[in-house]
Amino acid sequence: MHIQPFAVEEWMNAYEDGARWNIAETCVDSVSLRELFELCGGDADAFWRAFLDRRMTYGAIEGDPAFREGVCGLYKTIAPHEVVTTHGAAGANHHVFYSLVEPGDRVVTVLPTYQQLYSIPESYGAEVALLPLRPENGYLPDLAELRSLVTPGTKLICLNNPNNPTGALMDTELLKAVADVAASVGAYVLCDEVYRHLTQEDGWCESMADLYEKGISVGSMSKVFSLAGLRLGWIAAHDQALRKSLLSHRDYNHISCGMFDEAAAAFALAHREALLRRNRAIVRENLAALDAWVAAEPRLRYQKPRAGTTALVYYEADMDSWEFCTRLYHETGAFVTPGDCFGQPKSFRVGYANDVGTLKAGLAAVSGFLKTLE
Ligand SMILES: Cc1ncc(COP(=O)(O)O)c(C=O)c1O
Repeated sequence: MHIQPFAVEEWMNAYEDGARWNIAETCVDSVSLRELFELCGGDADAFWRAFLDRRMTYGAIEGDPAFREGVCGLYKTIAPHEVVTTHGAAGANHHVFYSLVEPGDRVVTVLPTYQQLYSIPESYGAEVALLPLRPENGYLPDLAELRSLVTPGTKLICLNNPNNPTGALMDTELLKAVADVAASVGAYVLCDEVYRHLTQEDGWCESMADLYEKGISVGSMSKVFSLAGLRLGWIAAHDQALRKSLLSHRDYNHISCGMFDEAAAAFALAHREALLRRNRAIVRENLAALDAWVAAEPRLRYQKPRAGTTALVYYEADMDSWEFCTRLYHETGAFVTPGDCFGQPKSFRVGYANDVGTLKAGLAAVSGFLKTLE
């Protein structure tokens, strides 16, 4: 089956390991298990002892109850049986499309966003319509344009909130307005929420699953909880027919998720406030550094993110973003992502949530590179 190459993942695979200054990373500075236990004040010995005695069966097929309970703490209305555990958010997004989308279905997806959200449905034979998110609109969906794309019979609308790569954040009112458009044709709304809770301002960040009966929220341990190595994510949804389909398809591609992954994730979620405090402090301090840097660089401009871990920075230089980022990498060791991976020419994506020392050194390297272009 044909599928478009996954541009951002291919770029990361090719260059990430050799990067001197990795400012392309989208997770909040990942933690070791030791750091996790120290940060959360949990009893690491008790955790390991309990785990050493567990037989390595398939575990709870539909997901460890403590983990699903922990996920529910991130929502207002989701119950444990409404959480489907998956292999990361990548697995969750894929699983929604695999379970829901048939050839000829109409799917409307915002752009720019994570490529899974349009290339997978397209590979399943869906007719995918792209809704452009424009800088002059704060990278938020234009409702009139959305209404014109959501024709009768549309199966699914795909959002990513907070947005990767722009850092735009849809508020409750806008999410509800999108849900109304979806409800007018009976469509589902898949909202990839892997950066949820990483806001620049305090306050609850709404989930589509809490706002709309056919809303589907995708989340994961990777970005918000700095535990990508667990490869654990979830789908949260109220719609019973959808959940039935998700579980039926899941027998074919998951059976269950890893027992260890779910136990460690359950521990992390039981102490989520400590992790969220750490990670919000990181994204806020680091974005302030990025913001000051962009303001001081005459060849750069951007829309300051409101949430998430990424920003899309536009440059003035006579080269496309592939050449810009490849030369930057080879000439300085600074690693960012070409905007063309997201259909955004003459820009690059910065992942600003790594440790602040790496961020500042990486940005200084970009400044040095920009000087060579003068
Ligand atoms: C918007 C978005 N969704 C999903 C993923 C995949 O995340 P996970 O590590 O949970 O599979 C990413 C990773 O970059 C992402 O940015």
